Amino acid sequence: MSRTVLITGNSSGLGLGLTEAYLAQGFEVYGVSRRGCSKTDHKLKDIRCDLTDYEAVPLALETLLMGIGHLDAVVLNAGILGKMQDMADTSLEDIQSVMEANVWSNKVLLDWLLRSGIRVDQIVLISSGAATNGSRGWGAYALSKATLNMLTQLYAHEFAHSHLTALAPGLIDTAMQDVLCDQDQVDANQFPSVEKLRAARGTEAMPTPHEAGTLIANLIPSLKQLPSGSFADVRTFKPNP
Ligand SMILES: NC(=O)c1ccc[n+]([C@@H]2O[C@H](COP(=O)([O-])OP(=O)(O)OC[C@H]3O[C@@H](n4cnc5c(N)ncnc54)[C@H](OP(=O)(O)O)[C@@H]3O)[C@@H](O)[C@H]2O)c1
Repeated sequence: MSRTVLITGNSSGLGLGLTEAYLAQGFEVYGVSRRGCSKTDHKLKDIRCDLTDYEAVPLALETLLMGIGHLDAVVLNAGILGKMQDMADTSLEDIQSVMEANVWSNKVLLDWLLRSGIRVDQIVLISSGAATNGSRGWGAYALSKATLNMLTQLYAHEFAHSHLTALAPGLIDTAMQDVLCDQDQVDANQFPSVEKLRAARGTEAMPTPHEAGTLIANLIPSLKQLPSGSFADVRTFKPNP
């Protein structure tokens, strides 16, 4: 039987890197994003869907996963950064749009999976160090990733036959870093935590999406060593051999 993985947000960045890594391991990959994945591979099936269009999500998933009874892994990776700004400058609308993309779309997807009858071995929700850092300027994004960690913990009780982890993937050189590392878009004097990202860019501390995808795809099975519902960070998680 073929090994199967569902990856959200596989049109770019980490999701694309994970797609490449799982295809290289011989998995059948099922992807969801708005732009679609540019890769062509007979083992890749892809659907375009805005995951914040909650009414459209069930039909998209039914179409994508028709006939699939088992998924070895689900990686809920799709996410947005939102605006880097002080909390006092952050409107409720700004927070809401980031929460919709980074948290509530995942709730809709998890609810659909629970009811689908598909046996899912492992679910990984892509979180961030921002979930716990509390650095200035990360407002809506930090709130969304902290909530995602708790969402993972709560759903772990309800997915009796699946193992869940919220995983901070470390720094990855993607479109998100294009924004964070651009002085015109994010002022390092106001938000000093971006200095570390700028220093890391181009070094091994910030791998390419392909490198990070390979590392994370290889790491995912060992996350089952943790209690279901845990938050882990690739930079500190040391699996037992
Ligand atoms: N890069 C880093 O250093 C870093 C660090 C910590 C955590 N992360 C997390 O890693 C994940 C991937 O981010 P990335 O850095 O790879 O950024 P990215 O290149 O911007 O990728 C984001 C992906 O999410 C998809 N997406 C966003 N909104 C969507 C929506 N409404 N519906 C469907 N798909 C949507 C995008 O696809 P479409 O635009 O085609 O829809 C894209 O494929 C995110 O959860 C991010 O928070 C990244």
